[in-house]
Amino acid sequence: MKFLIVLLLALIAYVSAEQCSGYTTIAKCVGEGDVCNHDQPCTELLYCNNNGNSVQNGTCVKYAELNQDCSKTTCSPLYSCESNKCVVANNVQNNGTCQSDYQCMGSMTCVSSVCTLGTNKCKVNVECPFGTSCDVSSGNCTTDIAAGQSIPVKADQKCALGSAQNTDGKCVALYSLAANAACNDDSLCDDQLICSAGVCAAIPAATPSTTNCSATACTSYEVCICKGGDTNATSGTCYTKDLTGSAMETRKNSHMDYLNCVNTNKCVLENNLQAPAYSSCADDKCATEWCKFQSDNVFKAVYNPIPESCQRNDPICANNSSNMVSASFSLIVILSIIVASIF
Ligand SMILES: *[C@@H]1O[C@H](CO)[C@@H](O)[C@H](O)[C@H]1NC(C)=O
Ligand SMILES: *[C@@H]1O[C@H](CO)[C@@H](O)[C@H](O)[C@H]1NC(C)=O
Ligand SMILES: *[C@@H]1O[C@H](CO)[C@@H](O)[C@H](O)[C@H]1NC(C)=O
Ligand SMILES: *[C@@H]1O[C@H](CO)[C@@H](O)[C@H](O)[C@H]1NC(C)=O
Ligand SMILES: *[C@@H]1O[C@H](CO)[C@@H](O)[C@H](O)[C@H]1NC(C)=O
Ligand SMILES: *[C@@H]1O[C@H](CO)[C@@H](O)[C@H](O)[C@H]1NC(C)=O
Ligand SMILES: *[C@@H]1O[C@H](CO)[C@@H](O)[C@H](O)[C@H]1NC(C)=O
Repeated sequence: MKFLIVLLLALIAYVSAEQCSGYTTIAKCVGEGDVCNHDQPCTELLYCNNNGNSVQNGTCVKYAELNQDCSKTTCSPLYSCESNKCVVANNVQNNGTCQSDYQCMGSMTCVSSVCTLGTNKCKVNVECPFGTSCDVSSGNCTTDIAAGQSIPVKADQKCALGSAQNTDGKCVALYSLAANAACNDDSLCDDQLICSAGVCAAIPAATPSTTNCSATACTSYEVCICKGGDTNATSGTCYTKDLTGSAMETRKNSHMDYLNCVNTNKCVLENNLQAPAYSSCADDKCATEWCKFQSDNVFKAVYNPIPESCQRNDPICANNSSNMVSASFSLIVILSIIVASIF
């Protein structure tokens, strides 16, 4: 079985350098009816009914499922609570068929069985027809700019899905820039490169594991973690903080496969990294690509694995038994034991 470990490293700045205190390890997660809180989360498919209060204790309970009552229970992440019932909502794009307002993405309404902005101003991109985005200042949907083109000075348009605006104002395809090209985000640089000091550059060489990073800072692509997870330790080791090598290229390819699928099927997304809304165009057409991207985007850290039963999946992927390899793993924040780098 594929073993996916997500270790989201929460970096807390300005912790005193000599020690590893100030971090919490999630040692276990708990089941239905058990006391739960921020440090003791519920297993997947349950939630902690502590009123969203991270300090207060709650009890782990099952989500309400489709059509179930949600007046006292939270709906499963796939659904929304409408008139005390869990429903599929926010999944129909502009000019799509609907029966109720809540089905339409964003603030569109269902008029003559079609989701439309009518005379309302747009607020978010998913309210606009495919190929257009919301110019929030005018409330109009404006045509997207293709990669290679500049966004007009007026800046009321956005780059087409699969591209993003670079420092020079031009839209560039994601992952398309070579070493030394000016950039403003890692995602614009070709894989194996990151955007460092305004240009695409190679990932800094890994710091040797013998280096004590309580005394010597790690590179910008690493984090300093206490030896053995001991909060009383006084020395740390540098670990890479994200994918490297062929895993980076795999992630790039699966991200582009997802965006190409979305574009081919003229599905609207809020942005390049937006998960498909359940039962939306992007879910119906491109869930396989999205779930592949999600599993390729997992940073498989070898350090300090969290209990398998605590892991959470993107709900769209979690329900597919073919994707169940990752269902009992992945995605809950663990605040691991990190010693701050030297400031
Ligand atoms: C929360 O639950 C834990 C473990 O059951 C317990 O030790 C703690 O005192 C509780 N905290 C509050 C604020 O009730
Ligand atoms: C809206 O959808 C209808 C039916 O699918 C289609 O005939 C029409 O061209 C669409 N309108 C726009 C503006 O895309
Ligand atoms: C928004 O669109 C409407 C209708 O096309 C147009 O009359 C109006 O001038 C546009 N507003 C801006 C600020 O471009
Ligand atoms: C860290 O030090 C404290 C205080 O000396 C001690 O109570 C605790 O058990 C130590 N923790 C570990 C993991 O050794
Ligand atoms: C690592 O560096 C810290 C901070 O300078 C120091 O306190 C600690 O003793 C060092 N650890 C080792 C094993 O040298
Ligand atoms: C579920 O997985 C199968 C096999 O990988 C795939 O064909 C199918 O499209 C997936 N469905 C979703 C919703 O991810
Ligand atoms: C998810 O899977 C469960 C169990 O197979 C099923 O009851 C439920 O209807 C599924 N939900 C969706 C949204 O497909």
